[in-house]
Order: sequence, then C-alpha cells, then structure tokens
Amino acid sequence: MLSFEDSTPSAATPVMPPSPLMNGFGGEGLRLQPVMPTLAPATPSPAPAAPNSFRSSAQSIRANDKRVVNGQADINQLAPFKYPWAWEYFLKANRNHWTPLEINMAQDVHDYHHKLTPAERHVFENVLAYLTTSDILAMRNIGLAVMEKMTAPELQIYQARQVYEEALHTWTYQHCIETLNLDQSEIYNRYRVVPEIHGKIQLANRRLDRILRSDFDLTNRDNLHEFALSYLFFAAIFEGCWFYNGFSPIFALQRRGLMKGTAEQLQYIMRDEVLHCGFGMRVVRQLMQEENLQLDPEAVAAMWQECEAAETAYASYVLREPILGYSADLHIAQFRHIANRRARQIGLSEPYPGALNVLPWLDEQINLRKEKNFFETRVTEYQTGGALSWE
Ligand SMILES: [Fe+2]
Ligand SMILES: [Fe+2]
Repeated sequence: MLSFEDSTPSAATPVMPPSPLMNGFGGEGLRLQPVMPTLAPATPSPAPAAPNSFRSSAQSIRANDKRVVNGQADINQLAPFKYPWAWEYFLKANRNHWTPLEINMAQDVHDYHHKLTPAERHVFENVLAYLTTSDILAMRNIGLAVMEKMTAPELQIYQARQVYEEALHTWTYQHCIETLNLDQSEIYNRYRVVPEIHGKIQLANRRLDRILRSDFDLTNRDNLHEFALSYLFFAAIFEGCWFYNGFSPIFALQRRGLMKGTAEQLQYIMRDEVLHCGFGMRVVRQLMQEENLQLDPEAVAAMWQECEAAETAYASYVLREPILGYSADLHIAQFRHIANRRARQIGLSEPYPGALNVLPWLDEQINLRKEKNFFETRVTEYQTGGALSWE
C-alpha cells in the first residue's frame, strides 16, 4: 500500500501577450517509442516470420535494464517491473474515480448568487480562473513533454492515467463554470489580463517549455539536470504546492457551509494531485539515483524564491480583501509550510525553516471518510477499490 505524507473583473486591456503555451505549446504531439532491436528476428526473412519462431528469437527483457530515461530495454514489455511502485500508483489512481456530473451543485448556484459577498465571489472566480488554465498546462506538460521521455512502460502507464485525470479536472472546472452560469470566455481569458495570475502561468511556461522540444537530448548532462529540475518544479511546486494549497480558499468557504459542491469536486481533484506530486517526485529521485545526478543547490534555491514571489503576488490579488477565515497572509504561510514538506520528500533542505502549519484542516480535505455522513456526499464512499489510504 502506498503511503504519503499528504495521502498524504473583467479586465481591461490585455497586459501580456498571449502565452505560447496556450497557443501552440510545442505541438510535437506524442511520438511512438522506437521498436527496440531485441524485438526483431535475428535474421530477416523474406517471408513473414511465424509467431513461434518470432518469440523464440527474442529474449525477455531484464528489469535491471530499464531506466527512467535513455533506456534501451523494449518499451513495450510491462513486466518484469523495475519500478513496481509505479504500477501501484496506477492501481491506486483508479480507485479515485468520479465524474463532475455526479456531484450535486444545486446549493452552489444559490450560494454563489445569493450568499457570497463581492469579495468572496472575487476569490472564488479567480481561483477557478487560475485552476482552469493550470490544469490544461498540466495535461500538456505530462502528456507531451514528460511521458515521451520515459523509457519504462510502468512509468508511462501511470502518466497516461495522469493525462486523463488532468483532462477530467478541466472538465470539472468547466462543469462548475457552466453550472454557475459564469461568463466562460471571460473566466478562461482572465489569466491573460490579470498580471498576478499570468505571472504563475508564465513562470511555469518558462520552466517547462524547453523540455517540450522533441529534440531535447537527455544524454547531455546539462539537459538531464534541466529535465530533473523542470519535473521537480512541476511535481513538487506546480502540483504539490500551487494546486494543493490553491484549493484552500474554496475549502475555507466550504468550512462555513458555502460552495460545498464545488469544494467536493476539488477534494477529488486534490486526491489526484497528491498522487501526481508523489509520483513525480519519486521519478525524479529515481532519475537522480540512476544518473548519479545532483541538483544544483543555487538553482533549487532560485526556484523556491521565484515561486514564492509569484505565489505572493497571486495571493495579494486573489485575496486583496480577506474573507472570513482566510487571507493572503495565511495562504503564503501555508505555501511555505507545504514547500518544506515537498523539499523533505525529495531529500532537500527546507526552504522555509520554521514555517507553521497555519491551516491544519487542509490535509484533512483528502481524508473525509471519518467526518462525513454516508448520505451527505459521495466523497466518503465513492471509491472502486474500497481501500484508499490517504494518510
Ligand atoms: Fe490536475
Ligand atoms: Fe496534476
């Protein structure tokens, strides 16, 4: 059983040019891995080889020949596993399955239009605007940049599931936007006209764009380091901090009995993101071990600093007026606390020693079985495996 610490205004004129991520983002598409020589018959025959003779001519792969990247083992043989934990992630991901249509949003429609204050609506809409853009970016990054570089099928299979989940998350936000009758084009465009939202997306684009190139050569040590740092940013910060902590303003509303349908949708998403984060960091650790790779401490420190600055600007805009039970200061304090956790998980020193867990209820959002009434919501009982452990 896997175990994790988590389981652990409409704006005026556009101030930024359209992001290349949203208008192309490489566009290489998924490429088939080359068929490895071990699959080919030893002596080519002019006539098609019979299945038996084909099998007899090829050796089964050895688990030890698999590598995270730059591997030469046949990519089409799942077993023997070198990374059984990756297969376990895949099985576990399939136990958290839902669609946004299954969650009752009726009370949210009333809450949004009749109960939320203008400041609370500002928070809600901008959190949603950020999340919608981010999840599309996440889907494209894992599907187009990361997955194709993996050379062990058990890693790719979980990532294929992750690509689907990121698409499901986008569907979920779209369902919320539609149900609440928000202006879709305005919400989706907001990241391009609000600098504080755009700043996070632009930062992510910059850190992820180069590894999207299909000719990015991972036999080059500098490129390998850049790839490891980029995947670390994606898993530990983009998913592990910005998403994980990014739901909390809406959970703060939920704790006061508001927007509970949306919050429940986000609880499902949060469970997925905890796995995405844990898996990505595990892959990075494995990569560093296999390749005898050390991350440059200055580059890591600069990453934390840059991401904290972007998050601070974002929180200052989204929570320009504090709402009951939540503020920009709390948001940033919790970012630092979660950032320390991610650093520990990857074996790095804490970037913010002494940061307090100012939102102790946040981690509980992924483990609600003990708290919810059986008939109140589906989060408690909707799991296909029946054995989820979200420690
Ligand atoms: Fe996601
Ligand atoms: Fe994700």
